[in-house]
Amino acid sequence: MADIIRQLADKREAARMGGGAARIAAQYAKGKLTARERIELLLDPGSFEEWDMFVEHRCADFGMEGQRPPGDGVVIGYGTVNGRVVFVFSQDFTVFGGSLSESHAQKICKIMDHAMKVGAPVVGLNDSGGARIQEGVASLGGYADVFQRNVLASGVIPQISLIMGPCAGGAVYSPAMTDFIFMVQDSSYMFVTGPDVVKTVTHEEVTAEELGGALTHSTRSGVADLAFENDVEALMMVRRLIGFIPSSNREKPPTVPPFDPADRVDYSLDTLVPDSPNTPYDIKELIQKTVDDSDFFELQSAYAANIVIGFARMDGATVGIVANQPMVLAGCLDIKSAVKAARFVRFCDAFSIPIVTFVDVPGFMPGTAQEYGGIIKHGAKLLYAYAECTVPKITLITRKAYGGAYDVMASKHLRGDVNFAWPSAEIAVMGPKGAVEIIFRQDAGDPLKLAERTEEYREKFANPFIAGSRGFIDDVIMPHETRRRICRSLAMLKNKKLENPWRKHGNIPL
Ligand code: HXC
Repeated sequence: MADIIRQLADKREAARMGGGAARIAAQYAKGKLTARERIELLLDPGSFEEWDMFVEHRCADFGMEGQRPPGDGVVIGYGTVNGRVVFVFSQDFTVFGGSLSESHAQKICKIMDHAMKVGAPVVGLNDSGGARIQEGVASLGGYADVFQRNVLASGVIPQISLIMGPCAGGAVYSPAMTDFIFMVQDSSYMFVTGPDVVKTVTHEEVTAEELGGALTHSTRSGVADLAFENDVEALMMVRRLIGFIPSSNREKPPTVPPFDPADRVDYSLDTLVPDSPNTPYDIKELIQKTVDDSDFFELQSAYAANIVIGFARMDGATVGIVANQPMVLAGCLDIKSAVKAARFVRFCDAFSIPIVTFVDVPGFMPGTAQEYGGIIKHGAKLLYAYAECTVPKITLITRKAYGGAYDVMASKHLRGDVNFAWPSAEIAVMGPKGAVEIIFRQDAGDPLKLAERTEEYREKFANPFIAGSRGFIDDVIMPHETRRRICRSLAMLKNKKLENPWRKHGNIPL
């Protein structure tokens, strides 16, 4: 027996060494941790249960029959994050460059299937040279098996991807279908075709980092939610993210004991909106002063910054925040911001997370770039997402809510449950200046008269009371009592029930 136990220990030790000491050293030299070290950091200490440590590939071509490292380049299993079960796969670059073989894919599918059965998130740590070249179509089939599961799991369990090394070719499409993508700066990249192919086909010269590095995807393409300096920081942020979200669509999001009083008032908010309607202010100040302990976990902070999205807690319970940002493009809605917010709203709706929307929007961004780029279709995504969503929706208009953008931003008409406005709100078809230039075109040559008309329009329409008189705004509230009023509304909506008519699925304008 002692012998058998020793043999098992030796086998385990061999598996833990992955591709061997030299390749592990190469991994460190690139600033990367090993697959198992990453899992240890992600999960609660000692909670990891590893499966399929002894799985081997079945390829017998190109000399592969002679090298069958145990585990086949991916570490899988489950553990806990702050006591809650999480499934994880972590690709081991030291074994055949973390490339995906048929059995490697089967391991990933195994934990995805289990996660679906028990209702727990899947975190994928990606560090791979792509399809195992020696296996050919068997590897491609393996990818498709993972893709299929990504799609069936979407909206059922949260799926989180960390890109911690190469992720190229069709392999990018598994993370692309997950809910969140975090990348590590300088050691990770994602692209469909690499710099060499790009050079051959389009004659563009670009480095891997420029083409698909963490900064590219978190600022230009919007593919990644956030970029982090190193593996440790990225893994810690995944733990933080998991703390906000439920384990599946069958559960409510986790709550924490609140220390920040729900009825806390903040008088500094009374002067947040500047006197001049064209002077910007930072909407994040409102978010921070409203949510529990100023703790706001912003996503996609460096992409389409004219809209702000992220998670926070109010009276201990998770909320999704969506807010126009007057500091960037005056808070206009454009293609990127509409798509960014739409996807977030749909995540919140799928996972029972109430949505708090702060509105200060002068309208949709004008211009040929927007129109040719399809702002009609992409703007409709946000409208569709808000209109379809059945979780509690609380909206506060701080200043501008003009035109179609007023309707889009979780208005009463899109089944907003509680719609507040500050006294500084201006709810109208457009701003007073634009309105007067159209309806008093005959006075165009008379600036004094125009100014008079503008003032008249402002007084009459640029306020929240006309919307209030129709019940489109439930109450005009004092800025300092914002937190108290939202917390109360959320408590009232706790058992909200609302269902959409049965259908196979809707047809969101993709
Ligand atoms: C088999 C692979 C491999 C792969 C890397 N290796 N990629 N083995 N299949 N796809 C092996 C290498 O042979 C090497 O083995 C070890 O992993 C480390 O690779 P290096 O090249 O030494 O590392 P590095 O210099 O860091 O370069 C990493 C890399 C490069 C950029 C990823 O390895 C590379 O270009 N690999 C090929 C990538 C590729 O074309 N993949 C197919 C893409 S198409 P030893 O024994 O020397 O340590 C695809 C389709 C997916 O993925 C389709 C889904 C639908």
